[in-house]
Amino acid sequence: MVRAIVTAAGERFVTPLAVSALTGERVFTDLFSLTDEQEIGHIRLAQDCDLVVVAPASADFMAKMALGLAGDLASTALLATDRPILVAPAMNHRMWAHPATQAHRASLAARGVACVGPGTGPLAEGESGPGRMAEVPEIVEAVMSLLAGGPLRGRRAVVTSGPTFEPIDPVRMIANRSSGRQGHAIAAELARLGAEVTLVSGPVAIADPMGCRVVRVETACQMRDAVLAAGPADIAVCAAAVGDWRPETVSERKMKKVPGVAAPVLTLTQNPDILATLSAAGPERPRLVVGFAAETDHRDDNAAKKRAAKGCDWMLANDAVFGAPTNQVRLITADGAEDWPLLDKTEVARRLAARIAAVFGETP
Ligand code: C5P
Repeated sequence: MVRAIVTAAGERFVTPLAVSALTGERVFTDLFSLTDEQEIGHIRLAQDCDLVVVAPASADFMAKMALGLAGDLASTALLATDRPILVAPAMNHRMWAHPATQAHRASLAARGVACVGPGTGPLAEGESGPGRMAEVPEIVEAVMSLLAGGPLRGRRAVVTSGPTFEPIDPVRMIANRSSGRQGHAIAAELARLGAEVTLVSGPVAIADPMGCRVVRVETACQMRDAVLAAGPADIAVCAAAVGDWRPETVSERKMKKVPGVAAPVLTLTQNPDILATLSAAGPERPRLVVGFAAETDHRDDNAAKKRAAKGCDWMLANDAVFGAPTNQVRLITADGAEDWPLLDKTEVARRLAARIAAVFGETP
């Protein structure tokens, strides 16, 4: 979850409404707004987070931070937080080079405030030099490395997500309705807990999760190859809806519909089972292999049988409702089963990642 505070200067560039549309959360602007105070309060706003990012950090705002001024909500929150702080400076190159700004930068650094950028290049005023805000991927990387002190630090994870596309000819394919939401949320959550995550994803219409290496594939065979290439991993979570079959032969040309000629018959062949392959991977086997079982009937029985048949450690049984934002799962392990309530997929991911972290936390 990202909560944004927009300063008065910031409001001249972007409206709080636009920021709110991006974060999906309400945006905070006013220190003295009673509504803000009733709903959350600036002290909680400052503390109820894993990290505070100041982007873009103007020369004026860096000066306020360095001096400990607290005249507005953003600077007050920064004075009230004891969470890690990352600044991404953005200003004119002469302002950046000014001894005052450099002194403020140094005093912030001495207090443990991390800094990403600025980059060098064309600036807003038509000049060029150091002062450009770091590119967003650089800021995300800096955020992830600051957060990487989590319980899964040093662990490698591979996560599969989304559907697979199995071509019939250059324009047709066998696909499924998986959105990738659950797998992507799990990858993001494992990364947030410090794991080094490779997400192998089929074609999806959602954004890449933060802090993960993403490998895009189409077919089940490509997904298997990418998963094996990403290993060895400590953790594998197979959340992709992998097509069970693919056409035995793929026509090089678009198959023609000829009037009076019967419809073609597709002969299918079995795809590799990535979850079963990983579970039987011998010395390279991830220590924890987790699968999903999307079932339309006899869900719990089928899922328990599937866990045994595939040889994975945990199986999450869920109803085969692809694309929904929520999921109701039953976690089946060697020790038994537990039903989780209907939860947002991000919350399922959070719980699962916490359970995974607990497994690794038990290691001496
Ligand atoms: O057999 P079924 O498709 O129901 O199994 C679902 C689980 O197995 C999921 O975790 C899915 O990602 C995984 N799977 C796989 N490779 C396949 C088929 C399923 O990894 N070919």
